[in-house]
Amino acid sequence: MSIFIGGAWPYANGSLHLGHLAALLPGDVIARYFRAKGEDVLYVSGSDCHGTPISIRAKNENVLPQEIADRYHSEFKYCFEKLSFSYDCYSRTDDAHHKEEVQRIISLLYDNGLIYQKEVEQLYCHSCNQFLPDRFVEGVCPICKNIARGDQCDACSTILDPLDLQDRKCKLCGNEPKIKAGSQLFFQLSKFQDRLRAHLEASKENWRINALNNTERYLNEGLQDRAISRDLPWGIDIPIKGYEDKKVYVWIDAVLGYFTVSKKWGTENKLDWEQFWRKDTTSYFIHGKDNIPFHSIIFPALLNGIGYKKMPDKIISSEYVTLEGKKISTSNNWAVWVLEFIQRYDVDAIRYFLIANGPEKRDADFSWREFINSNNGELLGAYGNLVNRTLVFIKKYFNNSIPKGEADKEIIRNIETLYNEVGSKIENGDLRSAIEEIFEFIRSINKYFDEKTPWITVNTEEDDCSNTIYNCIFSIINIANLLNPFLPSSSQKIKEWLGYKENTWEPITLLSGIELGAFGILFERLDKKLAEEELAKLSKA
Ligand code: MF3
Ligand code: ZN
Repeated sequence: MSIFIGGAWPYANGSLHLGHLAALLPGDVIARYFRAKGEDVLYVSGSDCHGTPISIRAKNENVLPQEIADRYHSEFKYCFEKLSFSYDCYSRTDDAHHKEEVQRIISLLYDNGLIYQKEVEQLYCHSCNQFLPDRFVEGVCPICKNIARGDQCDACSTILDPLDLQDRKCKLCGNEPKIKAGSQLFFQLSKFQDRLRAHLEASKENWRINALNNTERYLNEGLQDRAISRDLPWGIDIPIKGYEDKKVYVWIDAVLGYFTVSKKWGTENKLDWEQFWRKDTTSYFIHGKDNIPFHSIIFPALLNGIGYKKMPDKIISSEYVTLEGKKISTSNNWAVWVLEFIQRYDVDAIRYFLIANGPEKRDADFSWREFINSNNGELLGAYGNLVNRTLVFIKKYFNNSIPKGEADKEIIRNIETLYNEVGSKIENGDLRSAIEEIFEFIRSINKYFDEKTPWITVNTEEDDCSNTIYNCIFSIINIANLLNPFLPSSSQKIKEWLGYKENTWEPITLLSGIELGAFGILFERLDKKLAEEELAKLSKA
């Protein structure tokens, strides 16, 4: 079976924070799981290097947009590597291959009659002397009446046209922009209404509820054709006569990245990339909820327009993460930055927290106190403790090699159930519940250790003692294997200590007599005082 996983492409206009990370992590868990199962996986993403936010930052810093894109692209790459993201390819939208492919696709859509020219009214700011990009316009959302940007309303997540807004202002100078006529290229999105509706109906079991609801709303309103050209200096040139000085709308450019990067990967590695765009592939799209319509509507319409009838099978769209109970705000520096985080804390500790408390169905909160509790409680107190007490026991009483024993019937059954249930939960994007189930098992094995009192039986019933420890180590290797998609670094550690290399998705049996490697501790305890320190840093912001 082939599995395509597309992680959202973060904008290269600023650093990643925990909210981004929480929305992207499910992609890596799913990719690792399917690889362990032996499926053909392609997991891709990249940096979104075009768009107005990058131009704005470049202007503010008095540098070229390219410098901004380069800076954040390398920061993202570094962070994803540190966080053990297992992308098969992490690219960028200003990559030459991507640009050529996007131009080829736009020309193809044009030749297929799906792109047409239209006179439109655009907003021009006379004091700034320019047409205003969507994001440079601010005004009142026609749907929910909150203040919104010209591309999208954050409050009700409606995609907007700047002209939809009431009481419009130029975000650069605050003046009211004037309406001026111009010509733009439009994509016939409306033509795909029925096909997309049919696919939505078929996806009730497969998309997150926010994706279903949001997509249904657009379809109920009736899909509108969308302008795909923009009067901007930064982006991919439109390859159509008369429009050469305009750029491709950044969202069209970005979503096509899934397709172009798969082709790049396939060409470079001489592998069949087109299989991932055939119907028998299962495709996953992983992103935050503000990205939904671009993945559920615009991307499949574009693909269909160039002859690939593939539709998104699974949409794993997260809600938001709040920080200490408040909305994350990058402009007010009310955020925990990934780059700083990974320099100070264990990568698996943050992966664990953001998965076990993931914003799957509703917003989730990150607080330093809860983070430290979860590290010291579940990771160290339950998991780390089980591993440590078992390995130390083996070293002390069994000459550092795995003792003789027979796997307990009930433990075997529980492990088999875990592989099945955790597996189907991962396939469904229910990662909170999946990891919780594994930790429940960890707690049950700690209890087993306590009840079997091997520290007593070691002197009274040696067979019983070695059998107990054998069962603990049998459980531990399977826990490490089951947790590998979620917490790859600690799983790898355990596997090395136990001399087991593979990642698989079926019960592992360890042989008695295997000698343990040098082992250490799995997780570091975090001082409670850190929470106060981190909080103080935050409120200084
Ligand atoms: N850059 C967008 C954001 O950060 C996400 C783009 S996802 C893509 O919200 F797939 F369209 F690239
Ligand atoms: Zn709104």
